Amino acid sequence: MNNFRFHAYTDIRFGKGQVNCLPELLAPYGKNVLMVYGGGSIKRNGLYDKIKELLADFNIFELGGVEPNPRITSVRNGVAICKKEHIDVVLAVGGGSTIDAAKVIAGGALYDGDPWDLVTDSRKIGKVLPIVTVLTLAATGSEMNKNAVISNIETNEKLGTSSHDFIPQASICDPEYLYSLPAMQTAAGTADIMSHIFEQYFTSHTQAYISNRFAEGLLKTCIKYCPIALKEPGNYEARSNLMWASTLALNGLLSAGKGCAWTCHPIEHELSAYYDVTHGVGLAILTPRWMRYILNDNTVDKFCEYGCNVFDITEADPYKCANMAIDATEQFFKDCGIPMTLTEIGIDESKLELMAEDTIKYNDLDRAYVALNKEDVLNILKACL
Ligand code: NZQ
Ligand code: ZN
Repeated sequence: MNNFRFHAYTDIRFGKGQVNCLPELLAPYGKNVLMVYGGGSIKRNGLYDKIKELLADFNIFELGGVEPNPRITSVRNGVAICKKEHIDVVLAVGGGSTIDAAKVIAGGALYDGDPWDLVTDSRKIGKVLPIVTVLTLAATGSEMNKNAVISNIETNEKLGTSSHDFIPQASICDPEYLYSLPAMQTAAGTADIMSHIFEQYFTSHTQAYISNRFAEGLLKTCIKYCPIALKEPGNYEARSNLMWASTLALNGLLSAGKGCAWTCHPIEHELSAYYDVTHGVGLAILTPRWMRYILNDNTVDKFCEYGCNVFDITEADPYKCANMAIDATEQFFKDCGIPMTLTEIGIDESKLELMAEDTIKYNDLDRAYVALNKEDVLNILKACL
């Protein structure tokens, strides 16, 4: 295995009623809290009122309206509040978009220039205000990781940045908050969790046996519980397993001792940058096409390993086995109700070339599991139409 650093320090409070710990978790950082949230789901499900009641002794300032695929404009607004009100700690209440925006706000609060600089160049991230989160969507793992993804609509850019100091100090993960999710967000969130696992599972490293078995366990968890959560939104067992899977899939555990550049995520970020699509939907569409495109003599055994260990496929012929595994992946996303072509989500051929070019421009796809150039990305995108 490769050398690695695993310092996932987030204080996770998992389970029913854990929001009651919020005052205790925020208190060490000070009284001035910036509460960041999205377009209103937390007002509809009662979480907003509950938090305001719990934090009656704190000075709460608010930034609501953070968009899915969060915009740099929202981040700038949050930074302005932090600077004006001497904010001590940033509290994100929501999904990955809200948490990601909160991270860059926390960095921007202690940075002199435009926070977009922190997105385009992570080396500029210096000191960061402490971040605490209340998670309401199982998908990104942002509640325990160092990443943030921010969109700039004016320039059609959606870029990831990261800092060790972006890792939240504490995260409250109460599976009951997932009950109010629309079915499509449950399905897209699961596709995102699975894609995080695939990006770390499909590498050329052969020695990280332990990471691969963790990965397969998490994939099986998604495949078992997403259909149950879709059928019974209030099923606690399903929601709690999905919620913990989302955290573990992208907190450094699966890439410990292995790793290479990611593929479907960079391509999806271009779909979102140009068409503002739901991240997990874009990933579900891309994943089986990418898998088929990179299936060759060097990768076939890895796909068989996936098929055998995750879908219990027993086919002896390696290519048949690999294709069955890829078909099963596609069918799973379909069965979850995710639209499985770009055409269905309103994307035509007109910008595919541009998106392929930008994918290569902003990312390191020559270091991916199977190295891809612009032509390859374009072919994968065309196969998704
Ligand atoms: O804005 P509100 O009203 O809260 O509604 C949200 C939003 O419309 C809604 N929602 C969230 N929790 C809910 C709920 N609705 C009802 N009940 C609840 N409990 O769901 C919609 C989507 O929310 P969003 O936060 O955008 O979803 P997600 O968690 O999937 O985050 C997606 C963003 O994270 C980035 C993606 O690119 C995308 O911008 N990613 C972040 C990563 C990271 N930080 O590590 C890694 C990922 O690969 C990903 O790129
Ligand atoms: Zn993702």
